[in-house]
Amino acid sequence: MQDETGAVETRIMDAIAAATDLSALEDVRVAALGKKGEVSALLKTLGGMDADDRQRLGPVFNQLKIRVTEAVQSRRATLEAEDMSRRLASETLDMTLPVDTDPQFEGRIHPVSQTMEELSAIFASMGFDVAEGPDIESGFYNFTALNIPEAHPARQMHDTFYLTAEEDGEPLLLRTHTSPVQVRTMQAGDPPFRFIAPGRTYRCDSDQTHTPMFHQIEGLVVDEATHMGHLKHTLEAFLTAFFEVDNVAIRFRPSYFPFTEPSMEVDMRCHRDGDKLVVGSGDDWMEIGGSGMVNPHVLTHAGIDVEKYQGFAFGMGIDRLAMLKYGMPDLRAFFGADLRWLKHYGFLPIDVPGLAGGLSNKSLAAK
Ligand code: DAH
Repeated sequence: MQDETGAVETRIMDAIAAATDLSALEDVRVAALGKKGEVSALLKTLGGMDADDRQRLGPVFNQLKIRVTEAVQSRRATLEAEDMSRRLASETLDMTLPVDTDPQFEGRIHPVSQTMEELSAIFASMGFDVAEGPDIESGFYNFTALNIPEAHPARQMHDTFYLTAEEDGEPLLLRTHTSPVQVRTMQAGDPPFRFIAPGRTYRCDSDQTHTPMFHQIEGLVVDEATHMGHLKHTLEAFLTAFFEVDNVAIRFRPSYFPFTEPSMEVDMRCHRDGDKLVVGSGDDWMEIGGSGMVNPHVLTHAGIDVEKYQGFAFGMGIDRLAMLKYGMPDLRAFFGADLRWLKHYGFLPIDVPGLAGGLSNKSLAAK
């Protein structure tokens, strides 16, 4: 009988080893240990035996049951582990792929909005407030208060959009520059002043580098001892941070603006490397804006004591700054509302500009 048991055990153990998946193993288990299984049948025969046989074969059958049970368990553990490895190998997720089905990755921040945020972050770090003024202006704030009198040719130079509505007998207009915010902000507060005013501006002009609506940023600092050295440092510090370079060189070229005296155009040292603009080195100069010491007439219009206070101002085109920094060639595309353009040049909402994290640390997922 014990020999016979040995043959049964060998057959069952072979079947266990030959089971290549969990369901085949379960079949083997049921055939051996199930209610009608082979081992169970052997155990059942003990009931019909005499006491001696039962004493001798009882432990033999029970040991067989234990060994078969252990063999099934160990084979199951092996098959489960193999199964897991197979699933781990086949059910991989590529975590480097962009998750682009989420709506938050669909929308884009317009490069002009992003640039305005960058400008605000940089100037805020230098202690500048952000001021705003209306797009629809009076002739007084857009011209007169800025020392551009009625008959002055600069009024014609600006190609102004006039509205039919009037204020004080004068037609209202779409502001042609952000400079009127200088006067409005100074009137509303007390010196010293240190603010920027980014915003929309309008001129009746349209070609590859001009659109009827465009964006400017104005800067104004008024204090008791403000001088041109402060202006130069401010512009250099701004350009270094904005173009994310170690240093920039700028030069002032004498110019004329009615609201500043002296007036200078600001050029920045640069060169071209193929299509790419490299800022800070080279033999070229690129004009990036106008500036000067605030004309005392402007301060007087704003109610500032010119015996005590003086200041500097500057104005730059935001669209142009964005074009230079992000290599966007055509200004008109900015306002074409073409989603393909926006997808390509736009920013994700999570790309919040800040000086600490790298100003234009564009997320890889945006592309
Ligand atoms: N308002 C000028 C323009 O639109 C730009 C400008 C030049 C602004 C010199 C300034 C400045 O504040 O000082 O062309």
